[in-house]
Amino acid sequence: MGPFPLEPYRSTRLLYRAPEDNPTDDAFFQALYADPSVGSMASTALIRPLSTKERKELRAKLEAIMFMSVMICIIPDEGSDKVPETIGVISLKEQAPDFTHNRTHELAITIARQYQDKGYGPEAISWMLDWSFLTAGLHRVELTVSEWNERAQKVYQKLGFVLEGRRRECLWKGGRWWDLIHMGILAHEWKAAGS
Ligand SMILES: CC(C)(COP(=O)(O)OP(=O)(O)OC[C@H]1O[C@@H](n2cnc3c(N)ncnc32)[C@H](O)[C@@H]1OP(=O)(O)O)[C@@H](O)C(=O)NCCC(=O)NCCS
Repeated sequence: MGPFPLEPYRSTRLLYRAPEDNPTDDAFFQALYADPSVGSMASTALIRPLSTKERKELRAKLEAIMFMSVMICIIPDEGSDKVPETIGVISLKEQAPDFTHNRTHELAITIARQYQDKGYGPEAISWMLDWSFLTAGLHRVELTVSEWNERAQKVYQKLGFVLEGRRRECLWKGGRWWDLIHMGILAHEWKAAGS
């Protein structure tokens, strides 16, 4: 990608747009947060049924702390009159207001269950890394992933994220303890990988 891409909010199969305060995006988040199979992978929060109001509040809370948050959508076929289908959300969070000068942000991604395992996640993360290093001038992108989430670990590792540490046995799930895994990628590592 050149320094001034003509279509900055697109990758091969996907486009990225801001979340809207409208019924369509609201319905998407409601369904996403209602799916425990997604929640138990995307977050370390206690899994429990959430009311419509709680899901609404969760969306607002997450959007308020994000530095950058976009909806991931599938680009319709050329000539099709379909609207881009929303399949997930990807975001970057600042660590804390007084941490800004360190140019380190935390990545999070959630793809709705029916769109997983089709390679959309890595495509969206690559796009976000391009944006992070080329546009936002970040030095480092980091994330945490639960030990049980082997698929996400595999994706991050393939994209060049490096294992940086483990918070041992800090997560309780399914009657046993699991580690929280810390991973990160530096701007020069991303550049060296020819991304
Ligand atoms: C994690 C996530 C972003 C990955 O995106 P994706 O589009 O589903 O990823 P892919 O289609 O490339 O599939 C991931 C790879 O993991 C493999 N995989 C699938 N299930 C797996 C499992 N249970 N264990 C190990 N590997 C698995 C796939 O075969 C694929 O391997 P490949 O690259 O060799 O083909 C997406 O599945 C997702 O949002 N999941 C729910 C929320 C989540 O886990 N977010 C990350 C929190 S840290």
